[in-house]
Amino acid sequence: MQEKINKYINDINKLSIKNKEEYTHFKNTFLSKNGILNNLFNQFKSLPNEEKKITGKLLNQLKQLVINKANTLSSNEERITKKENLDLTMPAIYSGIGAEHPLSKVQNRIIEIFNKVGFVISDGPEIEDDWHNFSALNMPEHHPARDMQDTFFITLNPDTLLRTHTSSVQIRYMENNPPPIRIISPGRVYRKEDISARAHCIFHQIEGLYIDSDVNFSDLKKMIMYFVHNLFGKDVKIRFRPSFFPFTEPSAEVDIYWGLNSEADYRITKGTGWLEIMGCGMVDPNVLENVNIDATKFSGFAFGLGIERITMLLHQVDDLRLFYENDIRFLKQFNQIH
Ligand code: PHE
Repeated sequence: MQEKINKYINDINKLSIKNKEEYTHFKNTFLSKNGILNNLFNQFKSLPNEEKKITGKLLNQLKQLVINKANTLSSNEERITKKENLDLTMPAIYSGIGAEHPLSKVQNRIIEIFNKVGFVISDGPEIEDDWHNFSALNMPEHHPARDMQDTFFITLNPDTLLRTHTSSVQIRYMENNPPPIRIISPGRVYRKEDISARAHCIFHQIEGLYIDSDVNFSDLKKMIMYFVHNLFGKDVKIRFRPSFFPFTEPSAEVDIYWGLNSEADYRITKGTGWLEIMGCGMVDPNVLENVNIDATKFSGFAFGLGIERITMLLHQVDDLRLFYENDIRFLKQFNQIH
């Protein structure tokens, strides 16, 4: 039986097939119900055990060879048939072109607005250490304000975490660059939140930092007004609400009055017409000292905004989760919008 199998293997290796009939013949001879392979496997069953090992190996080798041969032959044949039917004058099949994600679009618009007044982009890692994400920002260990941002820690090392805001980038920048400073830091941030229509464990922020001599709260206010007017239009109404952040003093949150013109407006603004779009404030002198900037000579302001929030408002998206699902029907709607 081994000799027989070896002979088949040799024959197939030499075999070349010229047309469909020969291919069908090959398949029938080896692979049909009463074909050579099935017969051999039947005979194999009654072999004495000592022979089974070697013969079985050979037999499987033959089987694989037959299958491979049949496959290459069939794809050759397909290629030949395709070539025959090829029509070079046919117009190309339109497969649609990709487009920028709505979050990227809004992020780029915001970056452009700040670029115009001299802010440059500064980047940092998403996996951060405690110092840059918390301690240097005036949130020492056990500071209750750390609870404002539920944090993902990496492994069991509490010093390694996923950044909860891009303020960490500002610390990195200030550590390496003397004032004057004018930067924005766009990026992905992480918080341990339950996922819902209004919250996600991943979202995007742009934070800004301005440090120079004699910077005061009215400079901050002016910058925010400039930004809001450029993004939402001149007529939009905003308010500054006193707030608290450990790294700024005084601190404020900025709300925008969007009105209640659609169902989405109701949902996005929880029925009030107002939506908080950013946090801001004058950089706390402790933060400046932490990065060796002389707080008696320099002062500055910082702000941070959520890109998802603003995109929801601008494009009337009432469920945050849609941004991450990659549903082409959702994304397509933004192709024409700038
Ligand atoms: N880092 C704050 C946050 O993520 C936002 C903020 C930035 C507030 C700068 C004030 C100043 O919530």
